[in-house]
Amino acid sequence: MSERFKALVVDKSENDFSVSIKNLSIDDLPAGDVLIKTAYSSINYKDGLASIPEGKIIKSYPFVPGIDLAGVVVSSQDPRFQEGDKVIATSYEIGVSHYGGYSEYARIPGDWIVPLPENLSLKEAMAYGTAGFTAALSIQRLEENGLTPEKGKVLVTGATGGVGSLAVAMLAKRGYQVVASTGKETAHEYLHKLGAAEIISREEVYNGKIRSLDKQLWAGAVDPVGGEYLAAVLSKIQYNGAVAVSGLTAGGNVPTTVFPFILRGISLLGIDSVYCPMEVRKPLWNRMADDLKPAGLLETISHEIGLEELSDTLPLILKGQAKGRFIVNL
Ligand SMILES: NC(=O)c1ccc[n+]([C@@H]2O[C@H](COP(=O)([O-])OP(=O)(O)OC[C@H]3O[C@@H](n4cnc5c(N)ncnc54)[C@H](OP(=O)(O)O)[C@@H]3O)[C@@H](O)[C@H]2O)c1
Repeated sequence: MSERFKALVVDKSENDFSVSIKNLSIDDLPAGDVLIKTAYSSINYKDGLASIPEGKIIKSYPFVPGIDLAGVVVSSQDPRFQEGDKVIATSYEIGVSHYGGYSEYARIPGDWIVPLPENLSLKEAMAYGTAGFTAALSIQRLEENGLTPEKGKVLVTGATGGVGSLAVAMLAKRGYQVVASTGKETAHEYLHKLGAAEIISREEVYNGKIRSLDKQLWAGAVDPVGGEYLAAVLSKIQYNGAVAVSGLTAGGNVPTTVFPFILRGISLLGIDSVYCPMEVRKPLWNRMADDLKPAGLLETISHEIGLEELSDTLPLILKGQAKGRFIVNL
């Protein structure tokens, strides 16, 4: 195949850093069993980091970022995939050390690919992307730990972000009373549309002080924010409840004590989307096309942009200004 195609390429040398659209050929793509014509990608926090020189996420340059992609198989040496199959590829080394989704073509190892579930379009798959998968995995882990709508309210921190928006919408779809915490006063209408029953400010979660044990407010929490917020959330979870932690938007240090764990039986559930095994990943994508799929996934949560708009849009996610999910139309 001699066709040339467009991709967003980041490059770094001693004195220079660039993010630009370049023409590549299939031979420029890394090794892999499955060649995919990318239909859509998306923007996640890691992609924001990939677009800045001090992001510490890209292993070597030049590089094509984009940790998510969905598209159609062009050719495959993996018997599990045939020409014309619609597929999703997220996580593993994609967009970190293996050329990613900001490219009209991608070549991906078959072990990293999930068949597109029935009842999910390629565009919807990228409205979810890694953020949606992480939100879904958080909810699944909380429910495995005993969370049900009858147990009480569920908090979502960073509620207008990618993980947060999808957690709010999926929890509401499952009948939970969702408390959405946000730093964006202008986003209340958006959060109500997603299904939030109550909206609180970031300061109502963490106001600069953390008690070892505080008033028991929530049966569970989805927390992509981390840092002091996570410590404060742990102190306010009801007896036997749990927090699913996936991120570190507010920082990696969590100044907590053992008391929520040993006096209230609280569980801290770690959420990793990157190496989540296929036996969990594939059925969860099927659930995301079914009982977890919220109304308004495309209309309310996602904004579509083109490859040309990516370099201006990527910084928004690092400033905490992004609302919902950006889908990149290739
Ligand atoms: N574990 C995994 O597998 C996994 C997968 C995906 C993402 N992540 C991580 O999860 C985190 C969130 O990802 P995302 O894609 O949802 O990012 P995002 O779209 O940028 O959302 C983060 C949200 O956090 C809130 N926020 C921003 N700055 C804050 C601050 N200083 N203090 C408190 N809250 C703040 C904002 O929401 P409000 O304005 O509404 O408060 C923001 O929209 C990142 O750390 C990412 O790396 C982990």
